[in-house]
Amino acid sequence: MDVMNAIRGRRSIRKFQYKEIPAKVLEELLEAARLAPSAGNRQAWELIVITDQNIISNLVPICKNQQFINDSSVFLAAVTVPGQRWTMTDLTIMIDHVTLAAYEKGLGSCWIGAFDQDAINQLLGVPEDRSVAIGLALGYPAEYPSPRSRKSPQELFHWNKYGQQKQSPILRNDP
Ligand SMILES: Cc1cc2nc3c(=O)[nH]c(=O)nc-3n(C[C@H](O)[C@H](O)[C@H](O)COP(=O)(O)O)c2cc1C
Repeated sequence: MDVMNAIRGRRSIRKFQYKEIPAKVLEELLEAARLAPSAGNRQAWELIVITDQNIISNLVPICKNQQFINDSSVFLAAVTVPGQRWTMTDLTIMIDHVTLAAYEKGLGSCWIGAFDQDAINQLLGVPEDRSVAIGLALGYPAEYPSPRSRKSPQELFHWNKYGQQKQSPILRNDP
């Protein structure tokens, strides 16, 4: 799949039909994570790959009762690395790689940032000096939402100097 098609087609999926993700597919997603760029190539992140449905169920109350997490096949919990300035940036890029690779493989994903950090660290046995920074629910989609809105190019882009605009037929206002 063309990268731009994956970027355009991906959505946050909040309704999954439970089905196991084949090991090969899951491992390819982890490879997409591993190949992500990072500051100084330090790859300042770790990932807890949760396939145990009991643990996934236990995540629901910790993640502000977001019930759809229960139907996800796999939950990825991205962990910061202490003393690394770019750890949040590195792990954010890594998760984005996974979302696009997942879309290419027919999987849906949803970033999960709403959770009780102490509780998730405790549930997953994360050492004191590290912390879960973001989660990603993964599974087979049971919904195909329309594109969500985005800010206009005028709100987002400045050309050469702050405040300078440019008209473009390619940069669109629709999602
Ligand atoms: C850092 C971050 C945290 C997020 N946390 C949640 C969350 O806890 N629950 C949820 O349903 N969606 C969450 N989202 C998904 C966003 O709501 C979603 O990406 C946004 O509304 C745009 O929709 P789209 O992904 O379908 O384009 C999060 C996204 C990001 C990047």
